[in-house]
Amino acid sequence: MKITLSVLKADIGSIGGHIIPSKALINEVKNFVQENGKNIIIDSYISHTGDDIAILCTHERGVSDEKIHKMAWDAFIAGTAVAKEQGLYGAGQDLLKDAFSGNIKGMGPAVAEMEFEERPNEPFVFFAADKTDPGAYNLPFYLAFVDPMYCAGLILSPKMSAGFTFRIVDVEHTEKDKIIDLNAPEDIYDIAALLRDNERYVIESIYARNTGNQAASISTTRLHNIAGKYTGKDDPVALIRVQGEFPATGEVLAPFQIGHFVAGFMRGSHIGPLMPCKLNTSISYFDGPPVVTGAAFCVKEGKFTEPADVFDHPFWDYVRMQVSEKAIIIRRQGFSGAAMLPYSELEYGGIVDKLEKLDKKFTFKD
Ligand code: F6R
Ligand code: MG
Ligand code: MG
Repeated sequence: MKITLSVLKADIGSIGGHIIPSKALINEVKNFVQENGKNIIIDSYISHTGDDIAILCTHERGVSDEKIHKMAWDAFIAGTAVAKEQGLYGAGQDLLKDAFSGNIKGMGPAVAEMEFEERPNEPFVFFAADKTDPGAYNLPFYLAFVDPMYCAGLILSPKMSAGFTFRIVDVEHTEKDKIIDLNAPEDIYDIAALLRDNERYVIESIYARNTGNQAASISTTRLHNIAGKYTGKDDPVALIRVQGEFPATGEVLAPFQIGHFVAGFMRGSHIGPLMPCKLNTSISYFDGPPVVTGAAFCVKEGKFTEPADVFDHPFWDYVRMQVSEKAIIIRRQGFSGAAMLPYSELEYGGIVDKLEKLDKKFTFKD
């Protein structure tokens, strides 16, 4: 059976700052999807990571389907109404446009979708990250799909021997999607040259070269490119099919033990380590640290099993301790150098105004 897996995610308001959506907001979105998705979706799963709420669903309508996108948009509008009623912080903040215009992409919410022929058993992982941007997935998914140091299947499994094709987007180009397809292993230096720049080049999708089947879909929305100014970090979602011709679940998870430094800590303007957290984790230290959660499922004829929480294991408690230490170490240097993002990536214009004023006060010696 051919199914489409869609995840649509937005920050539409949260309690106590940018921490966690309220139960009432989550229930409103859940009820809305149940009621209005009846005739178009097969199954759904509503979750939150930090201050973001995500609608994961299955259907048979293909990617970029207007009805699915409209249903999600309307669910976010309904959730926003509750956020406003409750006085939640940042109510409706990711809904950048006034009216729905056919596709939720480019309107604020993040989207990742894949259409595929279901395998007899179909495991996949749904990742959601908060306080960061889509480039946060560049390193872990590069390592999971390209590097035999992380993905043993690349040398052990004949099904994976041909490697993977990466579709990479230049997110600075906003009028049209500017993409490039590169093949691992032969193009890995080119892939690495692009993916080192997390703010500009991001992985949009990955395909198994043996079969041509899609392995991964990642949201590539950069809110500031839509709004023309910073309105909040993009907090990306990703769908990764695992096992068989794709990396094993544990191979996809392995690179997350690095807790690599990403953009998006405090006010979307600082660098912090990405912490792999349990499902439904909230936000805390310095409005962070940036977090990523993973829910693994099997899907059969579009019906989900319950989720397995991939980072809920004693191993990841140890990793979280180490990532906390990295967070404290970089925070010790406050605003200095690598700890804060460059001007082009700051969420606030204030510092630019300040520098313009100061520039007028500079004088030349002699
Ligand atoms: C991401 C997030 C942050 C905020 C940023 C701005 O989920 O919440 O990137 O957008 O901290 O915060 P305010 O709007 O309070 O200035
Ligand atoms: Mg937010
Ligand atoms: Mg968020």
